[in-house]
Amino acid sequence: MEKTLKIGIIGCGGIAHAHMNAYKQIPGVEVVAGADIIPGKARAFLDEFGLTDAKDFESADELLKMDLDGVSVCTYNMQHCVCAVAALKAGKHVLLEKPLCVTMEEAKEIVAAEKESGKILTVGFQPRYGANMKQVKKIIESGALGDIYYVVVGGGRFRGIPGRTFIEKDKAGFGAIGDIGCYGLDFALNSIGYPKPLTVSASSWAHFGKNPDLYPEANRFTVDDDFATAFIRLEGGITLDWRVSWAMHMDTLGDFLFLGTKAGLKIKGKPGMCWDGTAGELTLYYNDENGQPTSKEIPPETEEKSNLFLQKVEAFVTAVREGKPAPIPTSQIIYNQAIIDGILRSSAEGHEVSCDL
Ligand SMILES: NC(=O)c1ccc[n+]([C@@H]2O[C@H](COP(=O)([O-])OP(=O)(O)OC[C@H]3O[C@@H](n4cnc5c(N)ncnc54)[C@H](O)[C@@H]3O)[C@@H](O)[C@H]2O)c1
Repeated sequence: MEKTLKIGIIGCGGIAHAHMNAYKQIPGVEVVAGADIIPGKARAFLDEFGLTDAKDFESADELLKMDLDGVSVCTYNMQHCVCAVAALKAGKHVLLEKPLCVTMEEAKEIVAAEKESGKILTVGFQPRYGANMKQVKKIIESGALGDIYYVVVGGGRFRGIPGRTFIEKDKAGFGAIGDIGCYGLDFALNSIGYPKPLTVSASSWAHFGKNPDLYPEANRFTVDDDFATAFIRLEGGITLDWRVSWAMHMDTLGDFLFLGTKAGLKIKGKPGMCWDGTAGELTLYYNDENGQPTSKEIPPETEEKSNLFLQKVEAFVTAVREGKPAPIPTSQIIYNQAIIDGILRSSAEGHEVSCDL
């Protein structure tokens, strides 16, 4: 009989519910504690799931004194680093919500703490488990596209500023860039094997969030962006053309494109695409056996399991149980964070910057 894994949840807000729902479906896993800095919130959260025996705390440090195998860190972004580092130092494996953190200093601190602890830290990018993202990666890995040299990340929301703590700078740190922009970066970089980013030239705006005529909570909107674009040079002579939108006068920022020396792959742009794992039809452009330029639709592969959140939590649990590496490791996601950091610096300074790696 397998040992029951004991889990704690740090930050008992919106996304903690998805973590709890997933843990509850996995045999041999028990959520035994929750912590939230808002008095009473952890207790109410645990009770909501009938976990009346689970312990509630008002600080992560108190929860981390317990004998736990792992924790989910579900705080807002500005508290990711402090909670993840404390958990690693307390000898717990960590499932950390995306984005990794806010600054590069924090990212480096997390990586150092992980290395020192000998525990794993995996980052919560659930679209990785979706059929579309897996299919795109498989096509690229097959070599069908040849050498990739240009990638475009389209998508973006027509109107979709999330509100709540996402628009408060002291809690979220940044707006659309870190909230859903990190998903687009992960889609592109994971598909092509996470090459190292070299430089970033970016611009960002907040024409919707800060305008009460366009956004009713403008008075609470203290983050600096609701829209951003970047031109990112990657190792291997690859350019990534990235954009993200929480709100714009447009339905989509276009398709996702992967251009290679042998073929090009288009993923039809859909409103909102990428941040939630949904994406459009795939079309391959190439020269046929007679050297004629042609294209063909690639039928979508069906989802093995549709609950991406459950798969993300299961992957963490399996890695902990079997002593495997982190399914979505910091060695990759630090590149994602370095680009975000570059986007913020480049937008503020108005010129291209080198990635801090
Ligand atoms: N993967 C996804 O699909 C997805 C979806 C939504 C949010 N998220 C991520 O999840 C995180 C949380 O988002 P949310 O919507 O749940 O936010 P939220 O504001 O609803 O919840 C965060 C909770 O953390 C608590 N908290 C903050 N600092 C703490 C600390 N030091 N110790 C204990 N508790 C603390 C807050 O009081 C709050 O209750 C964000 O980083 C966000 O990017 C991921």
